[in-house]
Amino acid sequence: MRILSGIQPSGRLHVGNYFGMMEPAVRLQDEGEAFYFIADYHSLTTVHDPEELRRNVRDVAIDFLACGLDPARATFFRQSDVPEVTELSWLLSTVTPMGFLNRCHSYKDKTDRGLEATHGLFAYPVLMAADILIYDSNVVPVGEDQKQHLEVTRDIATKFNNRYGEVFTIPEPRIRDDKAKVPGLDGQKMSKSYGNIIEIFGDEKPTRKKIMSIVTDSTPVEAPKDPGGSIIIDLYRLVAGAGEVAAMEAEFRAGGVGYGDFKKRLFEALWEHFRPMRERREELLAAPDHVEGVLRDGAGRARAAARATLDRARTACGIS
Ligand code: ADP
Ligand code: TRP
Repeated sequence: MRILSGIQPSGRLHVGNYFGMMEPAVRLQDEGEAFYFIADYHSLTTVHDPEELRRNVRDVAIDFLACGLDPARATFFRQSDVPEVTELSWLLSTVTPMGFLNRCHSYKDKTDRGLEATHGLFAYPVLMAADILIYDSNVVPVGEDQKQHLEVTRDIATKFNNRYGEVFTIPEPRIRDDKAKVPGLDGQKMSKSYGNIIEIFGDEKPTRKKIMSIVTDSTPVEAPKDPGGSIIIDLYRLVAGAGEVAAMEAEFRAGGVGYGDFKKRLFEALWEHFRPMRERREELLAAPDHVEGVLRDGAGRARAAARATLDRARTACGIS
């Protein structure tokens, strides 16, 4: 089984990225042949400073390795080290009806937020389909917000196969229902574009400060509180055991404890959860050549697989 996922190098990684995509990807390493990549071509739609892009790629590589991506088991590479994917993207775009892309809400969301309405932003899902199809991927672990892109990928693959024969494997999304939508500080989906994130590798003081700023209602300390829909509890559930969560819920209902105390407990639990990964990250920061070597090896393996699929697709449509 081929497992594939990508992450854009467009900023610091947050708790939503971790539980929605990275942790599931790390666990799946044992279930099949995993290919994970840094989607730098995609990030060109939003990051326009070359130095910033290079720095982000380095940071994401280190962070993903720190979070448990094991290059002995998974192939880890930069998207742009396999330029074959852009050629496949063109072949796919010739079978993609405009309607498939018009229905994608991420383009509208991004242009509504003020991003320039470029062709790259509009065609983003086609490049993503090429990423997935070029590695004959079976399973794609992503957060809930990528579900529509997976549907488009499946539709594009089916169109191509109907026109030219069985070239592509049809992939399945793997979305974890329980952790697919991690809330941010304000209760909306945690996202760097909403300014409501908790970084996984932020410094201690600002991280504590952010957690203390989680939005709550104005129930006084002594009064009972509703644990249902509480952002504090939803985040705590990600890093605490079932018993600890039940205990916090009971204290919410009993009253007598203020939100500030619950937030402190959440901070401690989060900080501890990421401690081993923080330590591993320190080691990786001191070994940039090792990280570069991992990406270079990964690119070699990925490129061989991509070449084979691209040749199949080229031949199928009459280009060889
Ligand atoms: P952002 O919304 O911060 O820009 P990305 O779109 O770069 O994050 O997401 C990278 C990966 O992390 C995707 O697989 C996405 O589904 C997942 N992800 C992002 N935010 C969340 C969240 N709040 N909950 C669960 N998964 C998330
Ligand atoms: N669009 C994904 C995101 O924003 C990143 C991505 C690009 C991706 N290509 C992919 C994810 C292929 C999974 C498979 O998070």
